[in-house]
Amino acid sequence: MQEKLQQLKNEALPAIISVKTAEELESLENKYLGRKNGELTELMKGLKDFNPEEKKNFGQILNEIKKELEESINKKREELNNAGFAEQITKEKIDLSQPCLPKKESGHIHPSSIVQKQLEDLFTSMGFMVLDSSELESDYYNFEAINIPPTHPARESQDTFYIKNHENWLMRTHTSANQVRAMEKYGAPLRMITPGRCFRNESTDARHEHTFYQMEGVVIDKNINFGHMKAVLETVAKNLFGPETKVRLRPKFYPFVEPGVNGEVTCLLCGGKGCSVCKHTGWMEIFGAGMIHPNVLNYGGLDPKVYSGFAFGFGLTRLVMLKYGIDDVRLLQSGDLRFVKQF
Ligand code: DAH
Repeated sequence: MQEKLQQLKNEALPAIISVKTAEELESLENKYLGRKNGELTELMKGLKDFNPEEKKNFGQILNEIKKELEESINKKREELNNAGFAEQITKEKIDLSQPCLPKKESGHIHPSSIVQKQLEDLFTSMGFMVLDSSELESDYYNFEAINIPPTHPARESQDTFYIKNHENWLMRTHTSANQVRAMEKYGAPLRMITPGRCFRNESTDARHEHTFYQMEGVVIDKNINFGHMKAVLETVAKNLFGPETKVRLRPKFYPFVEPGVNGEVTCLLCGGKGCSVCKHTGWMEIFGAGMIHPNVLNYGGLDPKVYSGFAFGFGLTRLVMLKYGIDDVRLLQSGDLRFVKQF
């Protein structure tokens, strides 16, 4: 028996090692370890004919050989698997010189959204919240609560679209409509921007459109002053147009701020020397701003003796036109793919 076992081992191990394919390995496994008629299995079955002493002895040797065969079969199987994988990789290698399939057309971001996102990133980095607000707005928030009562002449320059039979509702004329809503909702301290679409009843031409984008900003806290406002607006201008950009603030009346300013930056095209785009002034107007009027703080439920703040409104559409050199505002909303695809 012992001899038989030794012979089996001497024959099986080299056979397993020299196997070349998975099929050959499987048939060898069957030959020695198969449940039916496997040579080793058969020998194990035959153990019952030996006396207990021999049974124990041979049983032990049989088990050791079985273990050895199994180990060497598993090792070989792994080797063959790896070799197969390597072979597959060489077969499937990518041919970089092959012409690629035509690219499927995908959409892209509208230039107005690109500039809006850039500003949202900057403002969130300075701790501002980005607030959404509805385009359909009440007369109260769009005008009255920001110090533009029904008879105020400032309403004249902001004619808009009213809802038939609901004259207190209108399409907001500016994002300033969200100032008092934000104060009511969040109180003070407050640091927010509201980007979004605005509407005016305009005769359209290259510089006027009935639908356009603005970005409003509000900062309210104790001891906020004009210097804070200037610093924030300068940071924005430099981020948009480069570190050399200068900002000029000149007094301008807006009913919801006191004092109010008109914000200009050095002309992008001529760098301040004067050209046709800046009408030879060297400056381009891009925002309105000011210290929030005490009446507006009151409307927002904040005590103007405790809190102060500033507000600003950027003409986003105007920024987009300046950034990309677009000379007709109507192109932006036209839906004309020949235009939109350029960005
Ligand atoms: N709402 C103004 C407009 O549409 C822009 C503006 C000016 C907003 C001054 C402000 C501000 O917050 O302080 O023309």
